[in-house]
Amino acid sequence: MATIIDGKRISGEIRAELAEKTKEFQSKHGTVPGLAVIIVGEDPASRVYVRNKHKACAEVGFYSEVHELPADSTQEHVIALIDRLNEQENIHGILVQLPLPKHLDEQTILLRIKPEKDVDAFHPYNVGKIMIGDYNVLPCTPAGVMQLLARSGVSAAGKHCVVIGRSNIVGKPMAMLLLHDNGTVTICHSRTPDLKAQTLQADILVAAVGRAGFVTADMVKPGAVVIDVGINRNAEGKLCGDVDFESVNEVASMITPVPGGVGPMTITMLLQNTLTAAEAALNK
Ligand code: GUN
Repeated sequence: MATIIDGKRISGEIRAELAEKTKEFQSKHGTVPGLAVIIVGEDPASRVYVRNKHKACAEVGFYSEVHELPADSTQEHVIALIDRLNEQENIHGILVQLPLPKHLDEQTILLRIKPEKDVDAFHPYNVGKIMIGDYNVLPCTPAGVMQLLARSGVSAAGKHCVVIGRSNIVGKPMAMLLLHDNGTVTICHSRTPDLKAQTLQADILVAAVGRAGFVTADMVKPGAVVIDVGINRNAEGKLCGDVDFESVNEVASMITPVPGGVGPMTITMLLQNTLTAAEAALNK
């Protein structure tokens, strides 16, 4: 049986550290880090995520504001709000909750956020900084995975790391962070022939596929560290990851559960990015 990497516990530890750092920040600067979240439309899952972000900010002592815009908001309206928040001094981070309604141009909207306030690290400027290893903020999910590994005593150095998934939000930056940690990295995707031959090479296997139970025990090298980024619902509506936990648990040395693994870390990393952005703004 593998050791469970407890994302809830590690996330709690980091949030306690962030609350302490926020107190120090406040006594030094006379203000607290501020996050603005914009949500357009009524998507119930997005509303829950946004509410959780707002609550997490309060928990560590940040200021936060949520802008709930109607589903039929125009591009100009959203852009005007971002322009205002870009100039607002008590706001250090801006996040536009995705997905946006189809009539809005996502790329134009995300590009409008000043790179200094881009706490998702989605802006091409920040993406480029990550590529060259000179970054302030990291995309929340891959950053959360790196924290889970580091705080479980796992380094990518000298290891073969296999990432399944090549999205801009998870797979690609995940591979880059493992590379910066001196891992030897393979990125697999839907067009990879003989995926199992690749995954069996992995000392660290990261699954970001979006398909319930996709990674099975026969695809995992005995003793591997397995990180499950997936958040899926199975046929019974139960939350489950990309990894078949029951069987892989028998083969891996360490494994993240779903829920309670990577999931709790993402908002925590958003808080970290907001503090980093606030420090950069006030130490200018
Ligand atoms: N929707 C789902 N995940 C994310 C995320 O990480 N950032 C934003 N902005 N929207 C999301």
